[in-house]
Amino acid sequence: MGLKTVLAVGMMTLIVAPGIAVAQQGRISIWDGVYTDAQAERGRVLYMQSCSSCHGADLSGSFETPPLVGRFMPYWSGSTLDALFDYVSTAMPMHSPGALSAGANTDIVAFILKSNDIPSGSKDLGTGNLKAIHFDPAKPVSRRARK
Ligand code: HEC
Repeated sequence: MGLKTVLAVGMMTLIVAPGIAVAQQGRISIWDGVYTDAQAERGRVLYMQSCSSCHGADLSGSFETPPLVGRFMPYWSGSTLDALFDYVSTAMPMHSPGALSAGANTDIVAFILKSNDIPSGSKDLGTGNLKAIHFDPAKPVSRRARK
């Protein structure tokens, strides 16, 4: 293996294994405090009105309906937050998809994050940078070490 190949493989590892002991400047994670508690509380009220009848008040789902906690995390991991937002915006609530506003849907996504023990922060989740926010199943190691 020439030096170039070694470097290329090294680079691939950096790209393919995000969050594994590699500090990545500028990378945003759902673990970076991307929503506020007040927003999650608004989302909780909306969730209870529009989603809990199927997904359950505790988000645990039912026989027909997937849970929004637990295996929900590994299921969405590796995506970015726009994927979840787009899904909720276009496919949910099941019987009236797209019924809720973008603001309501970001509030509900904030509530779902909080329900999965993802920490809150000081700024509301907006629609502007959802694609930049990585859905990591667990807190990235580099961040864990820093705090
Ligand atoms: C009438 C029942 C019903 C309601 C109300 C409902 N959902 Fe769902 N939801 C479902 C079902 C059924 C699925 C699975 C759909 C599929 O697999 O095609 C689902 C799937 C989902 C998923 C994907 C879960 C996963 O990991 O696969 C999310 C996220 C979701 N719903 C969020 C919401 C939100 C947020 C609301 C309220 C705005 C809502 N749902 C309202 C029945 C419902």
